[in-house]
Formats: sequence, C-alpha cells, structure tokens
Amino acid sequence: MKVYIGSDHAGFDLKESIKNYLKEKKIEFVDLGTDSAARSVDYPDYAKKVAEETAKDPDSIGILACGTGIGMSIAANKVKGIRAALIYDEYTAEVAKKHNNANVITFGGRTMTPLEVERYLDNFLNTEFEGGRHQHRIDEINNI
Ligand code: RB5
Repeated sequence: MKVYIGSDHAGFDLKESIKNYLKEKKIEFVDLGTDSAARSVDYPDYAKKVAEETAKDPDSIGILACGTGIGMSIAANKVKGIRAALIYDEYTAEVAKKHNNANVITFGGRTMTPLEVERYLDNFLNTEFEGGRHQHRIDEINNI
C-alpha cells in the first residue's frame, strides 16, 4: 500500500510528523506538498492532488491535513471515487475503515496532537473493511 500525503500551511507540521510515523512503519509515501508552514496556501489545491492520485491507484490511501481536517475532507470528496473521512478519535478511525472503507483520511493540525493522530492511524491501518451491507451502502454512494 502506498500513501499520498498533503497539507496546507496549517497542517504542515502535522504532515511532517505523520511522515515520520510512516517511515517508522516502513510505509511508502509520496509527499505532494505543501513544503512550509510559513507560506499561506489554499487547501483545495492539495486536496485535489492527493485525491486524484489516490483515485487512480486502488492500492493507495490519501492522508490530508489542514487546520481542522474539514476543508480537506470537503474538497477531497469532490473527486470521483474518493471517500474522504475526517478522523477525530479512535472510534472514528476504526469505523472509517470498517464501515466506510475510506480511501482518504483527514486530520486537523490545529485541533489534534501528533500523538493522538498516531493512535488514530494505528486504528485505521489495522482495521479491515467489513464489506457486506457496508459495500451495498458504498455502492449507493457511488450511484449518487
Ligand atoms: C487555514 O487557515 C484553514 O482555514 C484551513 O487550514 C482549514 O482548517 C480549512 O478547513
């Protein structure tokens, strides 16, 4: 599995700490920017890049960080085939995979600590999609 990762300025520091986590876990990733917390950028640009790469590669997931994770999830969900979920605790980390089979997950650099996000990533990455009735619901989403 490959990870496409991106952030705006408000999520930059969190993105860097998530990259360290991915390195420790030996998970391959591609950083699609931004490259600094010092310069204000527009989060939809990075959501689009990560979501489009993730949509093209079924063996990948996307990880996005902005100030809250909200803007990134709204923008990423505009890309066909993307199911972006804002994760904000251990439970949502687990069910975003188990029920929603999220292929993009988003976090808030101004609302979460790196340690919290590591715990959420552990839960998300160690959970399997349940399929069954949940696949039917995803099919329904695809038909909207
Ligand atoms: C940037 O100031 C902030 O609006 C952005 O990072 C994000 O929180 C949007 O949802």
